[in-house]
Amino acid sequence: MSNYHIKHLEEYYQVYRKSIQNPDIFWEEIAEEHFVWRKRWNTVLEWDFSKPEIKWFKGAQLNITENCIDRHLRTRGSKTALLFEPNNPDESTQHITYNQLYKRVNQFANVLKDQGIKKGDRVCIYLPMIPELAIATLACARIGAIHSVVFAGFSATALATRINDSDCKLVITADGSYRGAKTIDLKTIVDDALKHTPCVKNVLVVKRIGSSINMQTNRDKWLQPLLDNALTECEPEIMNAEDPLFILYTSGSTGTPKGMVHTTAGYMVYTAFTFKNAFQYQENDVYWCTADIGWITGHSYIVYGPLANGATTVLYEGVPNYPDWGRFWKIIEKHKITQFYTAPTAIRALAKENLKHVEKHDLSSLKILGSVGEPINEEAWHWYDTNIGKKKCPIIDTWWQTETGGIMISPIPYATPTKPTYATLPFPGIQPVLMDENGNEIKGNQVDGRLCIKFPWPSMARTIWNNHQRYRETYFTAYKNNYFTGDGALRDEVGYYRITGRVDDVIIVSGHNLGTAPIEDAINLHPAIAESAIVGFPHDIKGNALYGYVILKETGTNRNHDNLRKEINQIITEHIGPIAKLDKIQFTSGLPKTRSGKIMRRILRKIASSEFDTLGDTSTLLNPEVVQEIITNVL
Ligand code: PRX
Repeated sequence: MSNYHIKHLEEYYQVYRKSIQNPDIFWEEIAEEHFVWRKRWNTVLEWDFSKPEIKWFKGAQLNITENCIDRHLRTRGSKTALLFEPNNPDESTQHITYNQLYKRVNQFANVLKDQGIKKGDRVCIYLPMIPELAIATLACARIGAIHSVVFAGFSATALATRINDSDCKLVITADGSYRGAKTIDLKTIVDDALKHTPCVKNVLVVKRIGSSINMQTNRDKWLQPLLDNALTECEPEIMNAEDPLFILYTSGSTGTPKGMVHTTAGYMVYTAFTFKNAFQYQENDVYWCTADIGWITGHSYIVYGPLANGATTVLYEGVPNYPDWGRFWKIIEKHKITQFYTAPTAIRALAKENLKHVEKHDLSSLKILGSVGEPINEEAWHWYDTNIGKKKCPIIDTWWQTETGGIMISPIPYATPTKPTYATLPFPGIQPVLMDENGNEIKGNQVDGRLCIKFPWPSMARTIWNNHQRYRETYFTAYKNNYFTGDGALRDEVGYYRITGRVDDVIIVSGHNLGTAPIEDAINLHPAIAESAIVGFPHDIKGNALYGYVILKETGTNRNHDNLRKEINQIITEHIGPIAKLDKIQFTSGLPKTRSGKIMRRILRKIASSEFDTLGDTSTLLNPEVVQEIITNVL
């Protein structure tokens, strides 16, 4: 029996039991058999959730790019590693083989060194979904620089905050990006951000759209000429198992974004292991994940997990509806995609369109369908199953988080019987528990509670950059000796998990994690606004949309409300990005508050969702009268 590749349910249970009863032996066998190490570990796991301190494979040395690239060259050198499908369907696809990837990553790594980047330096990558994005992340990893990829839909302010938080020395960007029929001036956004980032010394610019841009002398350089002059060999930096590999920012329920720090060895082992099993990857498969590398899904399941398994991984630059709503299906047919991994929000948007877009295409290459990022509703699940999988492809509903680094709860295709809307069973090594509000574990089945994980797994984030205290408070204090996920979940009669959604002030909109506090902070900068509160409400495509309750200052009361709404969304776009725009904005004279002044978001959420009958007792509020006013004017 191989622990590394599970093929049926009985085997899953055996492997799972072993992983729980003897985690050290379990992970050691996987690490030994499937990866290249420069030095072996002294201990498999050392941990203490009270600090919290987690160390996997302590004492080991390695370079993740040797595992993702070099070791495949002998057997898979001419196999396609990255398959790039451009935004414009008339532009040709690029097949980048493992041999070519090796050269390009090494050249890029040498360019980074020439820019003075050394092990441990932070490099911010702000690029569209083009091959250079994957290559730049791998080039950082090659030389031990810590990459911080920022999704290229974030605004200049959001980018600057992230650059400053981790003190990035270098930014890698492009002149612009294609998004359907539009182009976006990425370099202009970077220029705006860099007015506020004294730590940045240099900017490398990829030429993608050929627009004329401002290049600041001594700071900005075109990448291509530097690559052309770079050597194609760059010795990999030898990293310690627990050296940081990357920082990736995620929203918190309060304050600034959290720079989640992922380290090298555990992240590699776990993403490779989960990729192999969740997608049952076989040598000639062509795997496509539609996420952006700017999110954790792209890091783990476009770049590191697939490449560590020598897979062919597709990078798609564009959007689902360009040039029409058949684009995804066309790509599946064109490249004979075998595994397709996308988000419920995309499935819902695609399901609204005429089925002819699907029916035109031959999807018979598909073997496995995946879903990630938010709960998948039953209707979307069945549409996906019937129309895309033709009822022949298992759907893996994969639950995980930026913080977890890899898939935590998911069916293993062909092994775990699927059940619509259920993420089903934990991956080997993962020990989920449900907690009640008093911090006691809820045992047994057919129960619901708050989802925690009680034992470490190799790819968990080790800290928040520069803020270990916040890491501890956010994840390890609510439930003693447990990692708290922030999600609610239920466990059914056979022990399957269904994730019911966030129980904190994070709202998942179109699969993007948005904290309410940063949006409120942005809105409150408007001179006419006194206070605001954001909640989520159900939306048939986005899953959730944002509803803002806004109190105007005296000076704002005579302003035209529609104009104010536009200005509010403009401020949000500038400070965070268009993904955080509000769908509905209600002006109100007050917000329901407790006597200690805390906004009662639960009441606001119910009103925004038209659940007026279950508001509960409002009489103990500081200002109960405002509830009726809000209900009367609800949008
Ligand atoms: O609420 C859960 C939801 O997305 C959150 C994590 O968001 P993020 O860190 O951006 O990572 C998304 C990609 C891994 C979780 O706390 N979530 C993610 N996957 C699922 C999900 N909710 C339900 N079902 C899922 N399959």
